[in-house]
Amino acid sequence: MQYRRLGSSGLQLSALSFGAWATFGGRVARGDARNLVAAAWDHGINFFDNAETYANGAAEQVMGDVIADLRLPRDGFVVSSKVFFGAVDKPRPTQKGLSRKHVHDACHAALKRLRVDYLDLYYCHRPDPDTPVAETVAAMDVLVRQGKVLYWGTSEWPAERIREAHEAARAGGFQAPTMEQPQYNLLHRERVESEYASLYADFGMGTTTWSPLASGLLTGKYNEGVPADSRLASEDYAWLQRDVLGDDASRRLVRTRAFTALAATLGVSPAALAIAWCLRNPHVSSVILGASRVAQLLQNLEALEVAARMGDAEWARVEAAMA
Ligand SMILES: NC(=O)c1ccc[n+]([C@@H]2O[C@H](COP(=O)([O-])OP(=O)(O)OC[C@H]3O[C@@H](n4cnc5c(N)ncnc54)[C@H](OP(=O)(O)O)[C@@H]3O)[C@@H](O)[C@H]2O)c1
Repeated sequence: MQYRRLGSSGLQLSALSFGAWATFGGRVARGDARNLVAAAWDHGINFFDNAETYANGAAEQVMGDVIADLRLPRDGFVVSSKVFFGAVDKPRPTQKGLSRKHVHDACHAALKRLRVDYLDLYYCHRPDPDTPVAETVAAMDVLVRQGKVLYWGTSEWPAERIREAHEAARAGGFQAPTMEQPQYNLLHRERVESEYASLYADFGMGTTTWSPLASGLLTGKYNEGVPADSRLASEDYAWLQRDVLGDDASRRLVRTRAFTALAATLGVSPAALAIAWCLRNPHVSSVILGASRVAQLLQNLEALEVAARMGDAEWARVEAAMA
């Protein structure tokens, strides 16, 4: 494993990390979840990502349970949660959003589910148009001062709003956001590469990026249709199929097929190549992997070796295939 600093902070995250969305507390059984966390840990992964909304809190419960079961040392791993969407199906007004109240309640609920005394990383899962940014910044600052959160950040916030949060933190003497959690993959790169460019230099922000395989699309598994046992086949994720394939589904598939054909020519799995591509960006602190099986995770971990092996000429071919 390789370790990278989370932006300008001193926290060292594994360059590849592991998240529980759409798997733990749902399609992945508890025993398989245990095997996945164990395999991740054995390969040097030290950051486990979660959120209040994943399987309505069940993903955090399963993760907390298996981490305790595996007796991972608390000072050896980093665990996150995220607040915004709530942890019930139809949240009441105070059970969602980024108000001082929900930030407080959600943090304490996540600590219980994950069975930890503090969250290493705590994200505002989306911007909340109904809460002043300064209120959320102050609420996060309280949690940091209480030792319940070590670093807080945002996820999919517009750069302008992140800037506002930094200004509010400076004005109030509050802890500023350390990291952002954006989507980043070969099919979705604009925000990380362009919109956030000034945030890295101005605030030393790090990124922990999600969906490196565009929910599995970049493995090539959807090239000839939707396999029955895949994420996009699941009824609960019908909306995701629309999202991942998008209005320009045929164009995305043409690009993906070109990419997977190139991976075959280069003698690597498309999954490892797509993840290695994310690792090339120095502003990426950690690429959060998802996997429903240990075999997938092991294949994805090969990205470290692929990243070390590929040169500029190969990466130019990847860019051309995706153009
Ligand atoms: N902040 C946010 O808003 C946000 C949003 C989304 C995700 N995240 C975080 O990022 C993490 C990773 O995102 P993601 O799960 O979407 O990542 P991803 O790598 O794009 O997709 C992972 C899924 O693709 C399939 N897959 C993975 N490796 C494969 C392989 N080698 N061969 C074939 N299929 C493979 C599996 O699904 P199937 O086997 O079921 O097909 C797996 O669950 C999440 O767990 C979560 O922690 C954050």
